[in-house]
Order: sequence, then structure tokens, then C-alpha cells
Amino acid sequence: TAPANNGGGNAAAGDKKITLGFAQVGAESGWRTANTKSIQDSAKEAGYELKFSDAQQKQENQIKAIRSYIQQKVDVIAFSPVVESGWDTVLKEAKDAGIPVILTDRAVDSADKTLYKTFIGSDFVEEGRKAGQWLADKYKDSSEDVNIVELQGTTGSAPANDRKAGFEEKIAANPKLKVIASQTGDFTRAKGKEVMQAFLKAHKDIDVLYAHNDDMALGAIQAIEAAGLKPGEDIVIISVDAVKDGMQAAADGKINFIVECNPLLGPQLMEAVQAVVDGKEIEARIVTEETTFTSEQAKEALPSRQY
Ligand code: AHR
Repeated sequence: TAPANNGGGNAAAGDKKITLGFAQVGAESGWRTANTKSIQDSAKEAGYELKFSDAQQKQENQIKAIRSYIQQKVDVIAFSPVVESGWDTVLKEAKDAGIPVILTDRAVDSADKTLYKTFIGSDFVEEGRKAGQWLADKYKDSSEDVNIVELQGTTGSAPANDRKAGFEEKIAANPKLKVIASQTGDFTRAKGKEVMQAFLKAHKDIDVLYAHNDDMALGAIQAIEAAGLKPGEDIVIISVDAVKDGMQAAADGKINFIVECNPLLGPQLMEAVQAVVDGKEIEARIVTEETTFTSEQAKEALPSRQY
């Protein structure tokens, strides 16, 4: 194996405890809580010292955390970038300091791919495609317009951009499938509820809700029920993540289809950290395997769901 091109930070293989600085997006969703736990548990199990920060969904806080990890001379920096753009300067600072960076969960749009070692996480475009394909199949023979509202994730984030694009790609072939409103709900339950309330006020004829995550769908369900409508029947609901609460709503028939997004990235991250510290070659892209759930499949999977 070839040595990693900017070394393993400050821990030579095997001679001292590895220090990992991790800059998390926030605690905006059930998915994020499971992701944080996976990273903390896996770091402990691997015997690494983990420095962890929560950016409260703000890029400036993540940049501050990364700069502080550079100053503290950690061995490896990992982070899940809240948005895709605007990382080149701080990534260059890490590279100049000889500290390797690993991206988890979300991508950056930096043209210079040498600024990070690998990107571990889901294929969000594919997740959007799965959602769109299910809907396209469901309404393939529809003679009437199907009015869709979309709750987008955090503006500028990779999952919001990609889940929107993948979904649009798959529904484009059927002109009856119409996105009549699309707004961010910032991946939170509270915002999902608030925006759905506004959608329901503005449009009397909503057939489908596509939510970029379960939390926003769960908030929207509260708004739909408060408006006297039946989620899953009067309004068909598709979401992404498949966290326990989402799966419960699917099992109850309130969410019709969930595309899984796996938050348990900790073990793969720790393996990548070790490889980078050991100067081993590492894949530039590590994609997480994922599935989908109808209400019936959610019912079956729920008892053994970890998160
Ligand atoms: O980046 C992954 C997304 O971020 C999850 O789908 C969402 O729930 C989270 O907040």
C-alpha cells in the first residue's frame, strides 16, 4: 500500500493514542442523534481520544471547531459539512498543517480532491431517485394531476440538493406529477410542522408530501392531523431516513414509503482513521448500503430497529 499523501497527522502508527477531532452538524434530527452516538461509541471502542463539537447547524461554528482542532494538533479531523460550499480555505489550512481530513455523511463541492482523504456516506441522489421512482410507479396510470409538496432539508446542504435532484429526475417523465410548492424545513420537526401548516393554508388540493427526512415528515403529520386530514390516506407521504419514529409512523400507515439513510457511520469512520494514520491507501469514496420500506416492511423491521 502507498503512504497517505499528507501523512497521519501527529500519531505515528502504533506509538500513541490517536486523537480524532470531529465537527458535527448539530442535533437537528433523530438521524443526527443516532449518527453522533455511533461516532462516540465507535471512537471509544477503537480506543481513540475523541474531541467532539456540535455546530448547531452553523457553518461558521464548524469552521471554528476545525481551526481549533488544527491548533490542538489532532491526528485526524473528521466532519459532516452542514452545507456543500465554502470549505476550501479551512481545508487548505488543515492540509498545510499536515492533518488529514475525512468527510462523513455530507460532501463538499471543493474542486481540489486532495483537500480530504475520503468521503464516507450515503448516495443522496440515489435516495431521491428511490423516492421519485416509488411515486412514479404509484401514479403511472393517473389521468389526473398529482399535486406534490416538498419539504427540503437545510438549504445548501448536500442531502437537500441531491434528494431534490434525484426525485425530480424520476418524476420528470410523467407531466401529471407536479411539485406545486417546495420549501426548506431545515431537517427539523418544528420547521416541518410550520411549513406544512403554510402549505395546507395555501393549497387545498395536496395529494403527496415528499419530506427530505423523517423528522420533517413527523412535524408535517401533526399539521395534517390538526387540519382534519388523514396522513397516509388523504395525503400520501414519502420521507427519508428510517429512524424509529419514522418507521413507527410508517407501520401505523401515516408514512407510505421511507427511503433509508444509514446514520451508523462510526465503525467505517474509525477504520478509515486507522488506515490514514497507518499511511495506508484508502478509497476516495465509501458509499453506505441502504434499502427502502413500505408500511408493511416497516412493520416487520420495527422490532429489530436499532435507532
Ligand atoms: O445528512 C443526513 C441528513 O441530515 C439526514 O437525512 C437528516 O435527518 C439529517 O439531519
